[in-house]
This record gives sequence, structure tokens and C-alpha cells, in this order.
Amino acid sequence: MSQQEQLAIVGGRPLRGRLRASGSKNAALYALAAALLTAEPVRLHNVPEIRDIGEMGRLIESLGGEVTIEGGDVTLDASGVTETVAAPERVVALRASFLVMGPLLARFGEAGCPSPGGDAIGVRPVDVHLTGFRALGADVAREGQNFVARAPRLEGSRVFLDYPSVLGTVNVLFAATLARGTTTIVNAAAEPEVEMAGDLLNAMGARVSGHGSNRITVGGVESLHGTEFSIIPDRIEGGTFLLAGLATGGDVELEGAEPTHMDSLLTKLREAGARVEVSDHSVRACVDGPLRAVQLQAVPYPGFPTDLHAPMAAALTQAEGISIIHERVFENRLLYVGELRTMGGRITTGGQSVIIEGATRLVGSPVRALDVRAAAAVVIAGLAAEGETVVRDIVHLKRGYPRIEERLEALGAEVHAR
Ligand code: UD1
Repeated sequence: MSQQEQLAIVGGRPLRGRLRASGSKNAALYALAAALLTAEPVRLHNVPEIRDIGEMGRLIESLGGEVTIEGGDVTLDASGVTETVAAPERVVALRASFLVMGPLLARFGEAGCPSPGGDAIGVRPVDVHLTGFRALGADVAREGQNFVARAPRLEGSRVFLDYPSVLGTVNVLFAATLARGTTTIVNAAAEPEVEMAGDLLNAMGARVSGHGSNRITVGGVESLHGTEFSIIPDRIEGGTFLLAGLATGGDVELEGAEPTHMDSLLTKLREAGARVEVSDHSVRACVDGPLRAVQLQAVPYPGFPTDLHAPMAAALTQAEGISIIHERVFENRLLYVGELRTMGGRITTGGQSVIIEGATRLVGSPVRALDVRAAAAVVIAGLAAEGETVVRDIVHLKRGYPRIEERLEALGAEVHAR
């Protein structure tokens, strides 16, 4: 796919209907990396069919692993891994590539990786990961462009994370599974994707408890084994579709979802006047009248997810009153604001706060997809706008939203890839 690929959206049609939640992009990336911890095959199901999965697969292959991707089923066999240093050309595109560090260090006593890439949404250092590896007894150094960690056998320990970094928690969790003795990770990220990583590790023979809370305990074991495991639904992708439904005055039902992972979003949607119906594995959101402005902060889980900040802002352009979003996770999440302004959104920023005055009649315009969630925001705005919106660089959109055109069309949207 070319970087310039575009998506044309003819706005003004309410999105209506049902769709099935995809498997979580982030959780699937963690699961692929976890397979490096064992010499036995790991079979994953419900893996979303997006580029990032292929990128992670190629990184694992470049280390000597075998990766077979058949639609949503991915089989990994890391028995042949011989290389413990990730090649720079394999990590530039993907921040999650740094997750090879924990498993390689734990299993082979040595791991190296350049500073990882990913979306340009802030400084995104890796100090939390490195401090965690050091706390487990590893020597960590910068060698050329690589971070290199070494320890013949990691030692379980109390690891305090300065910040509950999601990838940092997962990396330290991976490393601790094969350490000698018990590790406690304090101030751990509690995101459902981290919880799933702990469940997967336990299915591989690890002894992890407390995952999904801010304190994770890991009893080290000698080795892990293969398993078969299904990826959890993507709360961010699902939330994006619910927001698109509401922004267009529609009615969207998400099936195969996990509503308990979506408390913060669903609470805000209700506060904004949406009718939200939840059952065991489905969520439906629609509007009876106009949406109302809300205020929120994007914070670590279980608070409102930073990944839904931009999509929420786009939907709030259609809410009456003044909405305020304060971004507290990434310092560079506000790239979408200029694009929404181009479309007629009345949005201002002050520091890390975004102030949205609504409801606004948005006008279809040429806009850019600047990162995966900024892309989702302009798509939502385009669906709600009058006339045609052409989104450039939708390669970013496709990183987080499998078969996006088809899924939007199934809900009644008029979209065309160009
Ligand atoms: C993950 C998700 C991303 C999501 C984010 C927060 C993946 C591939 N990405 O990113 O979609 O938006 O969680 O929910 O799963 N930080 C440090 N030092 C570190 C690590 C992070 O200071 O060592 C800072 C970052 O600069 C940022 C904040 O912590 O300001 C949050 O980062 P983190 O939780 O690590 O996000 P990621 O795990 O990179």
C-alpha cells in the first residue's frame, strides 16, 4: 500500500447496524512477542488483519523464529531463534518491537534493540523498561544505536515502575516469568491488554497473579511451553465505531465486545446523552436527541484511554456546549486538532487541553491522517460532515482498523479508497 493512499468519505449518513469487534491490535502484538519466551509453538486466534502484525511477525522471523499468518490465525515457532539483537530496519515502524527485549533477555540471557519507532505522539522513551530490567539484575547499556541488556539468569525482585507504562509493564512481566524467584511489579499498568498478556503467560506455564491491577506478582519458572490462545476484543477499535455512530446521529451495536473494558468511555457517552445498552458481550449506543458537551481527562486505565481522545474529540464537535479534554498520557496527541479545524471544528488548545465548542456543522475537506488515532478522528469528522472529505495517508488508519472501508460501508457509510 502506498503511503499516499486516500479514503474519500461522503458525509452526512447516520451509521446504523451491527459489527463484530476485531481482536485487539496492541494485545495481539504483545502475544506475538510472548511467543519468543518458549521453544514450543504458540497458536493465536482472533488476531486482527493489519500491517503491524505482519511487521512484528517479520521482526520475529529476522531473529530466527517461524511465523505463519493465516487470516486471524497466527502460529509462532521460536525454537530456531538464534539472533538476540533486533535489526534497526525491522523496528523503525513499530514501537511494540521493543517488546522482544524482555523475552530474549529472559530466555537467552541477552537482548538488544534500537530505540523503537511507532506513531509520532510524543517523546516515548524506554527508561521504564530499562529500569525494570536492571531491577531484575540485568546489565543494561547503550551500544551504538542499540540498548543491550545482559544477565545469565534474571533474579526476581521488587520492581517499582516510575510511570505505569503499558509496554514497559509487559516487557518487565515477560522478563520476570523466567527469573529465579518472585517478582512484584509495583505501579504496573492495569490495561486489559496487559491483563491478557498475563493470562497468555499463565497458559504457557507462567505463574502470574494480580495482572489487571497495579501490582503484578510473578513466580519465576524454569521454562514456558506452547499454547493456543484467543486475543481479546479491541476496545479502542470498538469505541471508535460507537463514537462514529453517535457523531452521525446513528445507532451502532458492537458484538463480541468486552463492555467491562469500556467503563470510562461508556460512562462519558451516557453523560453526553447517548443511550447505551450493554449485555454480556455487546454494546449498543444511539442518540435520542442532541449530544451534550462533556469534560474528560485521558489517563491510564481504567480512566479514559488516550487512544480514544482524538476520536472522542471528533464526536464532541457534534455535542452542544463546551467540551474539554485534557491529555495526560502523551504530550503530542493533539495533531488532529488542526485537521478538525480545517473541517470547520471550533477547537482551541491550551497546553495539553483541548476545548471544543459545539455543535458545529463540519464541512467535508481534504485532510491528513497524522497518526492512527488522529486518522480515526478525521474519519469520524468526515462521516459527520456535509460533503466529501478526502483523507490522505490512510496507511496510519489501517494500522489500527482492519478492513475499515468494508466495515464502514456495512454500517451505511459511503466511503471509497483511492
Ligand atoms: C501503549 C499503546 C498505545 C497507548 C499507550 C497508552 C502499544 C503498542 N501501544 O503505548 O496505543 O496509547 O500504551 O495507553 O501497545 N513513558 C516514559 N518512559 C517509558 C515508557 C513510557 O516516560 O519508558 C511515557 C511515554 O512517553 C508516555 C507515557 O509514558 O508519555 C505513556 O507511555 P506508555 O504507557 O509506555 O505507552 P506505550 O506502552 O508506548
